[in-house]
Amino acid sequence: MKKYLIRTFGCQMNEHDSEKISWVLEGMNYRSTDREEDADLIIFNTCAVRKSAEERVYGQIGELKRLKRIKPGLIISICGCMMQRDEVLEIITSKHRHVDIIFGTNNIHKLPQLINNHEKTGETIIDIVEENREIDESIEANRKYSFKSFVNITYGCNNFCTYCIVPYTRGRERSREPEYIIEEIEKLAKTGCKEVTLLGQNVNSYGKTLDKEYSFADLIRDIHKIDGIERIRFMTSHPKDISDELISLYGELDKLCNQLHLPIQSGSNRILKLMNRKYTREDYLKIIDKVRRVKPDISITTDLIVGFPGETEDDFNDTLDLVKKVGFDSAFTFLYSVREGTPAANMKDQVDDEVKNQRFQRLMEVLHPIGLEYNRRYLDQTVEVLVEEVSKNNEEILNGRTNSGKLVHFKGDKGLIGELVDVRITKAKTFTLEGVLVDQ
Ligand code: SAH
Ligand code: SF4
Ligand code: F3S
Repeated sequence: MKKYLIRTFGCQMNEHDSEKISWVLEGMNYRSTDREEDADLIIFNTCAVRKSAEERVYGQIGELKRLKRIKPGLIISICGCMMQRDEVLEIITSKHRHVDIIFGTNNIHKLPQLINNHEKTGETIIDIVEENREIDESIEANRKYSFKSFVNITYGCNNFCTYCIVPYTRGRERSREPEYIIEEIEKLAKTGCKEVTLLGQNVNSYGKTLDKEYSFADLIRDIHKIDGIERIRFMTSHPKDISDELISLYGELDKLCNQLHLPIQSGSNRILKLMNRKYTREDYLKIIDKVRRVKPDISITTDLIVGFPGETEDDFNDTLDLVKKVGFDSAFTFLYSVREGTPAANMKDQVDDEVKNQRFQRLMEVLHPIGLEYNRRYLDQTVEVLVEEVSKNNEEILNGRTNSGKLVHFKGDKGLIGELVDVRITKAKTFTLEGVLVDQ
């Protein structure tokens, strides 16, 4: 029996693609391993969103040269978003010649054929499809968890935010037919799945490429009817497309999780315009106000970029001000990273690294106390937690998530994994909560 190992970088989209790759490989009788030494096939599923992510991949690929020398039969493959960039392909094929198979984000289904070709010819196989308008519904996923699942609803992105590489690596936006989505979730529910996370670069524009009138809100209503599904999450929402109908669902549907991830990127209208985000800070604050009127205790999280080209001290202060005004539960924060081929890469006034780092630090200092304050609101409350796994550092501790997406650590038996349990919160930290199981 041959063994495979997949190293995944990047977002949930990639995590889920790796689950699909795993399904394809298990169908070829491969079995998974965590040890590089035992693997016959090592696949890197890569992310191109920031330079640092790419550099990590180059580093790890380089390190495999040694293993490949000892074990010449080892197949090394790279796929995912980086492979959709010509510049990267050139580097891999010239400097990392020990890589055997290169494929893109649109042709996971072809993997068996690519492996066979490589085994027959011993040559480096490259298969990149620029864009795939037809959605391939034949691939299933070998999911990491049985009780919570990612489900794709849209692929690609049409927004072309000026800093972002994703529209170039994932192609144009396409919505899956609702029938396929519902069928997939019904099947998942029958095998014990309690929580689904609907995935798309901009879930709010779901439905635009369908032949019929059917919106993201319609889709959520239909998923809500599925027995066994207890929690519905989604990501990511773009503020320009969030509808009042969706916001009102928060007050209607109890399975819709008490959480909204709504990337703002910057609090400066001038920068938002340069980013091509198509909303203002005022629009954003209005949305938050509407959402909180429907659901006052909702957890709101965001993405922020520090040091976009031309960002002045005033622009950055607008971001700090907005962060305070909204009060985010938490945020993913990024230093702007130049991505060749995107409009922002050629913009004047790129911000100095040192300035970027200082601003990043100042942003943390504003974000963290707010996050802690929100987490303190959970103290002494009993919350429902979906138990996910045993803690990596301590076998007696379980990790789970609240309906609002907060990570909770508590003592418990691993037999509870996959169950919804009640936990009383005893300690609140900036990023996590701690608690004790409540007898049921
Ligand atoms: N489609 C999603 C996010 C995809 S990328 C959305 O629109 O929200 C995830 C995050 O990476 C983005 O929200 C942004 O904050 C960050 N990001 C994207 N390109 C970047 C770049 N060039 N430099 C730094 N951060 C970037
Ligand atoms: Fe990138 Fe913008 Fe599309 Fe998100 S919406 S993937 S940030 S281009
Ligand atoms: Fe995701 Fe990175 Fe690709 S964020 S879509 S894996 S570029």
